[in-house]
Amino acid sequence: MLRSFHLTVFQNSYIHKVNRHTEITTMCLREVFIPFVYFVYVLGATEKDKVIQDVDYSGLAGEAELNKNDILNFLNSTRVREMYKMQYERLLASLVDVETRRIVAGRNTSIASVPWQVSLREKTYPICGGSIVTDLWILTAAHCLLRARSSDLSVRLGSSWKTFGGEMYDVRECFVHPRYVSKTKVNDVGLVELYSPLRFSPRVLPIRMVARDVRLPSQQPAIVSGWGKLKASGASATFLQSSTIHTIAMKLCKRSGLDRKAIDPASMFCAGSFSQNSPDACQGDSGGPIVREGVLIGVVSWGLGCARGNFPGVYTRLAYPVIWDWVMGHITRTDKSDKASL
Ligand SMILES: *[C@@H]1O[C@H](CO)[C@@H](O)[C@H](O)[C@H]1NC(C)=O
Ligand SMILES: *[C@@H]1O[C@H](CO)[C@@H](O)[C@H](O)[C@H]1NC(C)=O
Repeated sequence: MLRSFHLTVFQNSYIHKVNRHTEITTMCLREVFIPFVYFVYVLGATEKDKVIQDVDYSGLAGEAELNKNDILNFLNSTRVREMYKMQYERLLASLVDVETRRIVAGRNTSIASVPWQVSLREKTYPICGGSIVTDLWILTAAHCLLRARSSDLSVRLGSSWKTFGGEMYDVRECFVHPRYVSKTKVNDVGLVELYSPLRFSPRVLPIRMVARDVRLPSQQPAIVSGWGKLKASGASATFLQSSTIHTIAMKLCKRSGLDRKAIDPASMFCAGSFSQNSPDACQGDSGGPIVREGVLIGVVSWGLGCARGNFPGVYTRLAYPVIWDWVMGHITRTDKSDKASL
């Protein structure tokens, strides 16, 4: 992650090339199969020496588990919001170079610092990132879900490693925003529903989504995370990376090297930097979180290359009512029979 590539989507490029479907609600096929939760033992010992230590969600984890049935209100309470913000500030501080006070590129980061981060897999292959938003729902990008059958998808969570550790959960069904357009990437948001509810822990926690229709201030730090490519045409990360980047005003983003017509100010926002080799999201980070002050503000969506000067990354704007209402409509659903109306 956090450096470079040369296609339009921060994911395996064949997925958006193959798919030209637009306006489709549920792309990944529903199939009946036996739900199964795998538990894989975490090999934590070697992790300790190379990751940030002082971020700690263990106090929140127990409470979140107790408040599982009312998790969205729990996450929205002032006290819990403050607790998330405090942990976020700690991670932010550790990502900024102490000597130069400058932003540094991606760093090895324990899942315990970003416990909402998941790795979405198709069969055994990691295809995208995602964020836990409730005990049953994972938020990701629409373009991550277009090709896959839900029976081929699974989610790895609670691990700092891309390909082992943590827990694996099967996918019941996935949903693509009905107004997602693959050609333009507008409304690039999708949801994955798990078969069985998650057990929250200091390494597996939901994050609160940004409030509806709030304006995102520009030139503010935010944190992106994922296991995407480490540089231009290089290999992807095996250990979770995170990095600070800055939100960019739409006016400035439109003046960047990106095609100004390609940026939809309603459903997208830009973040990154105009200088070369600064942190950026990259191929494989797609669908993953961008967090500001402990709140999920967006989803890694697309870009042009990674960390090339003058090409900021583009993110799905979760506060956009068309997106926000659709997401909330699904994740607050309690009765299966409501599904038809969504
Ligand atoms: C990050 O983690 C990888 C995988 O364990 C390791 O090879 C690398 O040395 C680590 N980098 C740093 C800067 O600690
Ligand atoms: C969160 O709480 C605020 C009041 O603090 C309220 O206005 C808002 O509707 C709540 N949001 C959700 C998603 O419950």
